[in-house]
Amino acid sequence: MIWVFDAYGTLFDVDGAAREAARADPALADLWPALSFDWRRKQLEYSWMRLATGQHADFWQVTSDALDWAAERHGLTDTARLLDLYRRLPAYPEVAGTLAGLKARGRTAIFSNGSPGMLRAAVESAGLAADLEALLSVESAGRFKPAPEAYRVVTGHFACAPARITFVSSNGWDIYGAAAFGFDTVWINRAGLPVDRLPHRPARILNDLTGLL
Ligand code: LAC
Repeated sequence: MIWVFDAYGTLFDVDGAAREAARADPALADLWPALSFDWRRKQLEYSWMRLATGQHADFWQVTSDALDWAAERHGLTDTARLLDLYRRLPAYPEVAGTLAGLKARGRTAIFSNGSPGMLRAAVESAGLAADLEALLSVESAGRFKPAPEAYRVVTGHFACAPARITFVSSNGWDIYGAAAFGFDTVWINRAGLPVDRLPHRPARILNDLTGLL
């Protein structure tokens, strides 16, 4: 089997940066959940807007622009620490054990909107490098998910048909794009959300990664 994982929200906890920053900064104590929510929301919006208009910038730029917006909204001026923490987000607790188990039975990779540098930094800081054979980034296609050209990076790397890839993501929009491209899909519904009202439903739904084993 070939298991391919989305990165942010699926392997790495995107709230980890704001949560960690709040531990050292009382100004963030009550604010961090809303700040983190807006940061992620704008990051995704900006990626979709840039895709729709053909004005690509890499995901680090988009992440930094989104943080600027969220910081201004919440009255913060110093964002350097938050951005730095985003480079070493924590992995969810079950990730390391699950990836190691899957790697022993098949092939495992990341496929993410994240730029290659972001992905390398996150994987190394979470100690996951040995459990992933490839870190694939949309940057090779110059287009964000959910563009079909982006998912083609995966089939190009593994030289296989889309149906041979089991794509795992916690993001409903990403599952939609992956299923439309022809991947087998597993939606990790960490937040207990309803299924997106889009043409392709996830083939399977799990609460976290452990069910993959
Ligand atoms: C990823 C984000 C967008 O592609 O979740 O990793």
